[in-house]
Amino acid sequence: MSDDAAAEIERGLERLGASFRDAFAAATSEPALREAHARFLGKKGELTQLLRLMGQVPGADKKRVGEKVNLLRNDVEAEFQKRLGSIERALREADLRARPFDLTLPGRTAAPRGHLHPLTRVRRDILTAFHELGFAIASGPEVELEENNFTKLGFPPDHPATDMQDSFWVRPGVLLRTHTSNVQIREMLANKPPLAVVSAGAVYRRDDDITHSPMFHQVEGFLVDERVTFAELKGVLTAFAERLYGPNTPVRFRPSYFPFVEPGAEVDIGCVFCAKPDGTRPGCRLCKYTGWIEILGCGMIHPVVFENTGIDPERYSGFAFGIGIERVAMLRYDIPDIRLMFENDPRFLSQF
Ligand code: FA5
Repeated sequence: MSDDAAAEIERGLERLGASFRDAFAAATSEPALREAHARFLGKKGELTQLLRLMGQVPGADKKRVGEKVNLLRNDVEAEFQKRLGSIERALREADLRARPFDLTLPGRTAAPRGHLHPLTRVRRDILTAFHELGFAIASGPEVELEENNFTKLGFPPDHPATDMQDSFWVRPGVLLRTHTSNVQIREMLANKPPLAVVSAGAVYRRDDDITHSPMFHQVEGFLVDERVTFAELKGVLTAFAERLYGPNTPVRFRPSYFPFVEPGAEVDIGCVFCAKPDGTRPGCRLCKYTGWIEILGCGMIHPVVFENTGIDPERYSGFAFGIGIERVAMLRYDIPDIRLMFENDPRFLSQF
């Protein structure tokens, strides 16, 4: 036992007490700080070395010296934590100031962007053209009652379209609608004239070849008011054709038959593919060398349809039309096979 040991420890503690703050303050990074910490409290640290002498301290001094050691150890630990906190804070602030990421920069590799399907574009263009002409936009169900799809439109019960072979029947009296004309019936049952409505959607028939698909899309439109004549029908459809295919597009009305119109017509436009700057159209594959392309069916709404929907046929008249959207898209984009539009092949879709 020796007083020297106690004195040596106390001197050592004083020396350490005077130097640890400066040593921590001088450390500007976390590894440097930890190194300084190890120099004092590590296995080979200065304080640890001093503690080895404790065994030699006389019993009477042990408590006093021990307390001083603990005090200093606590001070060193507290100072270490404080300095560690301020180093971490400084690091974070420098990081924020440096702004290593600019989130507003565009990506380095151009991500391929999606776009609208050609059918969606054509459908929107057709609806927009009629909307601008004052028509409201409505929708109707694809699973429909025979009543709304056929009967109220004046189809006789033995009409071929009503046959199992031509339509998709869900159960007797319910089928997948074969055209959008069901919307005429629903809108006329639900509303009173004057009415000007267009509607687009999917329809279904047992058809399947390069120009016919079992599922395709139509736009239906109709207008009902007092004193509506065929002149209004011609005016509206001519305005529509010009909006879709450009001004001065030639339009012709050909007599045709649909059970729910009288008179009925099909509308052709002057072929846009073989039109020459001087206005002549010598004919091409797409117009089958006639210079004309059919785009829709139309006519004056049959009085029987008005009777079936509770509208007075003596007071009101109107016209209706139905456009095949795929047909318009095929003509617009020169697509030779309707099925390409439903296969979702990126080699096809990326062309639009
Ligand atoms: C009708 O569907 C009538 N509802 C149109 C109508 C409405 C006439 C209002 C008068 C008054 P149609 O069966 O012709 O008519 O069909 C209209 C258009 O749909 C056709 O001109 C054609 O472009 C398109 N179409 C018919 N069947 C198919 C099919 N399987 N695949 C793709 N398009 C078709």
